[in-house]
Amino acid sequence: MLDDDASPSPPIHQMATATLTDNSDSSIVPWCQFSRRVLIRSIVCRPDGGAALAGQNVTVGGWVKTGREQGKGTFAFLELNDGSCSANLQVIVDGKVAPLGQLVPTGTCVHVEGELKKPPEGTKQSVELRVEKVLDVGPVDPAKYPLPKTKLTLEFLRDFVHLRPRTNTISAVARIRNALAYATHTFFQKHGFIYVHTPIITTSDCEGAGEMFQVTTLLTDAEKLEKELKQNPPPSEAEREAAKLLVKEKGDDVSQLKSEANKEEITASVAELSRAKENLERLEERSKLKPGLPEKDGKIDYSHDFFARQAFLTVSGQLQVEGFACALSSVYTFGPTFRAEHSHTSRHLAEFWMVEPEIAFADLEDDMNCAEAYVKFLCQWLLENCLDDMKFMVENFDKAAIDRLKMVTLTPFERISYTHAVKLLESVTDKKFENKVEWGIDLSSEHERYLTEIIFKKPVIVYNYPKGIKAFYMRLNDDMKTVAAMDVLVPKVGELVGGSQREERYEAIQKRILEMGLPLEPYEWYLDLRRYGTIKHCGFGLGFERMVLFATGIDNIRDVIPFPRYPGRADL
Ligand code: 4AD
Ligand code: MG
Repeated sequence: MLDDDASPSPPIHQMATATLTDNSDSSIVPWCQFSRRVLIRSIVCRPDGGAALAGQNVTVGGWVKTGREQGKGTFAFLELNDGSCSANLQVIVDGKVAPLGQLVPTGTCVHVEGELKKPPEGTKQSVELRVEKVLDVGPVDPAKYPLPKTKLTLEFLRDFVHLRPRTNTISAVARIRNALAYATHTFFQKHGFIYVHTPIITTSDCEGAGEMFQVTTLLTDAEKLEKELKQNPPPSEAEREAAKLLVKEKGDDVSQLKSEANKEEITASVAELSRAKENLERLEERSKLKPGLPEKDGKIDYSHDFFARQAFLTVSGQLQVEGFACALSSVYTFGPTFRAEHSHTSRHLAEFWMVEPEIAFADLEDDMNCAEAYVKFLCQWLLENCLDDMKFMVENFDKAAIDRLKMVTLTPFERISYTHAVKLLESVTDKKFENKVEWGIDLSSEHERYLTEIIFKKPVIVYNYPKGIKAFYMRLNDDMKTVAAMDVLVPKVGELVGGSQREERYEAIQKRILEMGLPLEPYEWYLDLRRYGTIKHCGFGLGFERMVLFATGIDNIRDVIPFPRYPGRADL
């Protein structure tokens, strides 16, 4: 609504005080600077619940959670939510102000102006809004609205990823996720890390696991060509022969004219010859067109692809960010990563976000210290900035969610070697693991969770893993059997962070690449970092959705990312 009359500009003094941290007990509700309303949070999240604001005129906008007509249709109560906090503002509309029928259905959007009033004694709200003017209504047909007010399962909501932010749970998760992103930048910026945007499209497989999504235009090109060839078939042999003959004839004409004709006649004849040649060339070109993918030596010929080589969606920004760490010293990347693994678990997504710091002049111990400090910082941040949403999680999903955050901020993480972890797991007698434990195995989720949830009951950092189960870039330890890797395991989730000290020695890393059966050529640029000015360095990746899972206590990772992508599903 851009009508100035309907939506007056805020008084200058209110504009000046508008901030996003509006929990102060100032007696003025701060006006939103770029939106024609006040945040519902700035009314109901005050320490007094908004009681001291009674008497003030405000404009609010939001979506109706529940609405009911009362007093035989003379007025209506609306529970209004604008996503700024989990609490709703109670709004009362008199039947004389607007037709009530279209305001009450769940999901209706209303933009209204009115006076904040103290409600009658005994009601749970500290303040309510008596509407004087309805500025705008975005109506809903309740018979068709897919999210009625009954409690809906998170699984059901996955069919409506575009509407599910309107639910209490998904909006609380979105605010917690936002806070964690803000905290991430705050933590790394505070410690002097430079934020680097690593590419989404890449030609190197960081993890060497071959789980990359390919980026290609060859398929669409082939489809287009097939369609085109159907509409406009390639020339027949006879057409090409005729065109060749024509070129010959025109050539003969030119030779003949050269001896007897004038300049103008020769020029005209040469032009005809050129046209005949062009036509022949075009026909020859088109006759080479074949439906299907371009091939060379029996393989797909990627020189015809968009990037003139095979390209993929990144599985991690690590390799590229290492280039920046070997110049800017302390850096981090935070972006989407993609894995084409067919994991149907509640901990895996095909598209997820990863925070990856990379630190020069630092070893595995520095790496563990950084990861521990960062995870603690995130937990502390939520306790300080997101308590209302965390309380919502405790009430609705996981009673232990807040206690878990407190535990993480207060408790030093346990640090054990992989060898020690395996010994501990081998001696477990009260549980039979589905996957057998022995030195050399990749710990599976059941092992990781047993270590962190049952044995230590706190985050555990496992380090020095067997080289056979880890990526090529991890530094080989002196025992020649293990690498300087570390995983941070946390209750509820298992692996939250994976990191390592990097192999900075040229010969050693080259040997590792070959040992793992990877081709050297795509990693030549990476080897340059060891050829020129190599340095001890380390880094890690924190799975951002796993962190949101850990914080919220939600069970399935598909519900903590706005638009989940997993095998068989990529809505919108
Ligand atoms: O352990 P990962 O594979 O490590 C790397 O990618 C390194 N290049 C990171 C680095 O050293 N810079 O992945 C890191 C984290 C895991 O610990 C996990 O939390 C998360 O990313 N993760 C996933 N999260 C959701 N869905 C998936 N499919 C995930 N795969 C890994
Ligand atoms: Mg890992």
